[in-house]
Amino acid sequence: MNDVSKETRFLHAVSLGLGAWQWGDRMIWGYGQAYTDDDLRKAFDISLSLGIRLVDTAEIYGSGYSERLLGQFLKETEQPVLVATKFFPWPWRLFKGSLLSALKHSLERLELEAVDLYQIHAPSWVMSSEMMMEGLAVCVQEGLTRTVGVSNFGQKNMIRAYTTLARHGIPLASNQVHYSLLHRDVEKNGTLARCQELGIRLIAYSPLEEGLLTGKYSPENPPPGIRSSQYADLIKKIPPVIKLLQEIGMNYGDKTVAQVALNWLICKGALPIPGAKNALQAEQNAGGAGWSLSAEDVARLDEATDKIKEYRQ
Ligand SMILES: NC(=O)c1ccc[n+]([C@@H]2O[C@H](COP(=O)([O-])OP(=O)(O)OC[C@H]3O[C@@H](n4cnc5c(N)ncnc54)[C@H](OP(=O)(O)O)[C@@H]3O)[C@@H](O)[C@H]2O)c1
Repeated sequence: MNDVSKETRFLHAVSLGLGAWQWGDRMIWGYGQAYTDDDLRKAFDISLSLGIRLVDTAEIYGSGYSERLLGQFLKETEQPVLVATKFFPWPWRLFKGSLLSALKHSLERLELEAVDLYQIHAPSWVMSSEMMMEGLAVCVQEGLTRTVGVSNFGQKNMIRAYTTLARHGIPLASNQVHYSLLHRDVEKNGTLARCQELGIRLIAYSPLEEGLLTGKYSPENPPPGIRSSQYADLIKKIPPVIKLLQEIGMNYGDKTVAQVALNWLICKGALPIPGAKNALQAEQNAGGAGWSLSAEDVARLDEATDKIKEYRQ
């Protein structure tokens, strides 16, 4: 791996974070029915007490409510928390100045002076990667974010972002991408290796494949709502993977399916940010870090999931 720049070193020291998409999202996650603000506060508190330091949110989560809630929770704790949020490239956002303006609104909701990581949520259809990086550079220069990153960027776009920022003397801190045992494209398309080579932290989103890698869902008991159709095919293939995760977990002092799935990502060099709706889930997920699968068990899981999803270049 390349030397990690001193500005982004803190991200490489974090092994596991907490995702906050669930905070206020009714459509996919059932916020307000299946769980409440109080459940989320408890999830946040227990995560902090178990050493989780990074929370990942976005301006679009709960239409801003996730950031507001995080702002509230931050005021109620003395513990240091690393805050990562995201800029959404709506098609009407045409100019680099929209990044600074969006970040200022995020900071208002978070009630913070600056965040630790400001990410572009996805490539834009209207702004080039170069223009967005120029916008991010201004955010750093204004002191409103400590570091900057991208999300859902393929290798080519990521390198363009890295190169543009480098011209301003700013490192590309991270690329947040879909990565789990059931979705391993970033290993196959070389993005993970490239990140490691360039000292870019690969942040793994949906590390539990939206709940599929917890052992509670099966073809007979699919997840509720949109997820049931989204995963209609994939869920048929998971029983042997869950069985193996259970079997491996038993050899490490009864680690759960979710904990083994998260640890596999950490062993691969990624930073997983599982979402949790309540304290129980958050507590369990925190236990995915702080220990390590053997190379043999990582290889067994690799083999069991290698062909589970057709990979298209
Ligand atoms: N950059 C992007 O484009 C992008 C996209 C997606 C996500 N993200 C980020 O990544 C974070 C995590 O991804 P994600 O939320 O999509 O999926 P995930 O972390 O793979 O799964 C989260 C869901 O799994 C279930 N769950 C979590 N822990 C559990 C446990 N220990 N036991 C049983 N069930 C458990 C919960 O749903 P149920 O209880 O309903 O099953 C929870 O809402 C998000 O919060 C967000 O910050 C970013």
